[in-house]
Amino acid sequence: MSHEVIRSNLVPIIYLLSTVLFIFGIKQLAKVKTARRGNTIAAAGMLFAITGALLELGVVDYRWIGAGLILGTIIGALFAIRVQMTAMPEMVALFNGFGGIASALVASSVYWSVVVEGGASGTVYDALGTDEAITVMLSILVGGVTFTGSLVALLKLQGRLRKGQPILLPARHFITFGLLFASLAAGGIAVGAGAPDSMVWVLSLAGGALVLGVLLTIPIGGADMPVVVSLLNSYSGLAASMAGFVIGNPLLIIGGAMVGAAGLILTQIMCVAMNRSLLNVLVGGFGVGEGTAGGSDEYTGVTSCGPEEAAMVLENAESVIIIPGYGLAVAQAQHAVRELADLLKSRGTKVTYAIHPVAGRMPGHMNVLLAEADVPYEELLEMDVINSEFKNTDVAIVLGANDVVNPIATKDPSSPIAGMPILNAHEARSVFVVKRSLSPGYAGIKNELFEYDNTMMIFGDAKKVLQGLIGEVKGL
Ligand code: TAP
Repeated sequence: MSHEVIRSNLVPIIYLLSTVLFIFGIKQLAKVKTARRGNTIAAAGMLFAITGALLELGVVDYRWIGAGLILGTIIGALFAIRVQMTAMPEMVALFNGFGGIASALVASSVYWSVVVEGGASGTVYDALGTDEAITVMLSILVGGVTFTGSLVALLKLQGRLRKGQPILLPARHFITFGLLFASLAAGGIAVGAGAPDSMVWVLSLAGGALVLGVLLTIPIGGADMPVVVSLLNSYSGLAASMAGFVIGNPLLIIGGAMVGAAGLILTQIMCVAMNRSLLNVLVGGFGVGEGTAGGSDEYTGVTSCGPEEAAMVLENAESVIIIPGYGLAVAQAQHAVRELADLLKSRGTKVTYAIHPVAGRMPGHMNVLLAEADVPYEELLEMDVINSEFKNTDVAIVLGANDVVNPIATKDPSSPIAGMPILNAHEARSVFVVKRSLSPGYAGIKNELFEYDNTMMIFGDAKKVLQGLIGEVKGL
């Protein structure tokens, strides 16, 4: 088969197949039960995409591609094996950054090969055409912002940049918008300039984009980073889609658009579940304002108990709802919680798990965490389904969760979490809250559930408390 026949007949079929696999993969990723299969299907789609791209190119130096493939596979596999579950958002941030810079480099390489190396006469606009010239510049801008923005997000999530605290520069909105307009202007001038002159402007655009990524991300607090990472994911898709236009690859346009849309939808879901607008997240500074910090010494009438007393209450409980939160992930207590649940079930108690959409620090955090300990999917009930069950439940065990069970969200319109839907744990006959202290959660506010008459605090690391509870229940 000649290269032309392959290019015009086989490659479009391969691209179509990849697109279908991507769509099915994303669809299956939407449900915990089918997520693994969805991931494999999407990966197969990517394999077809790479094969199609190589066949389309025809004669290329496969040594470089082979070396890159082997090196990339080794690095990727090492990352995937070694990453901790709680560090998943960091890894996603890094991947988004790589996606962004890859798209910017693809666009830059087209500019370089056609305009600079190709020695095109006239302007960039003459050499590339209107659409391509503009998309090259936008790709460099969005890709650059995504790259440095993602690196800052990574450092913030790791707490290595001012311990994840927002960094608020004076006149930051003015500086950021100024730089955005200056970068756009540099891109515009580059399009209208000739071969050697345009290089200075393209470099200015790239430099501006890299600084802009940093400026846009530093004012946002570490705990808001998952929303930012999701948004940057969307940007990386947008940059990839634009790179697809630049090199005339329909699959990259489609794949990038899918990532762009999925990232945006996820960002929106997270904002709605936290009752925050995207603008409120992006403006930054959340958690440093008045009335949102501290609060741990304002509690009155809090009662606490040890695992022994709790086990005695559990002994007589017919139904138990477990509410996992961020602290469960920190304590890596997913196996211990499953062991306790199995033990209670073996004694005839009905045990279910209540999953809040933003419990933890990333979408689906609790589902993934509990799946790691093989907790059956059917025992994980979404907030809307389980909320009406609490009032008929004997015991609610809140494990390292805080904001997602804070009744203030439904009572005080001035609260930072006002309007955020919560799990109605307080409606259960008895509530045990397992955490190390009375410190606030992510929103930085007092949780009045801890003062309720039917609430008992069990202070300690979630894993240690659970192990204590398991020991006590076994001894009953
Ligand atoms: P949080 O409100 O953040 O509370 C977690 C609690 O876990 C803390 O109060 C902490 O108290 C406790 N904890 C930490 N380590 C622990 C350990 N080893 N053992 C026991 N407890 C431990 O968590 P949540 O209820 O899951 O709510 C999530 C919050 O994150 C929401 O406000 C949400 O809006 C926000 N958020 C979520 C997402 C997504 S997508 N999930 C994205 C961005 C923001 P101690 O220090 O006293 O132990």
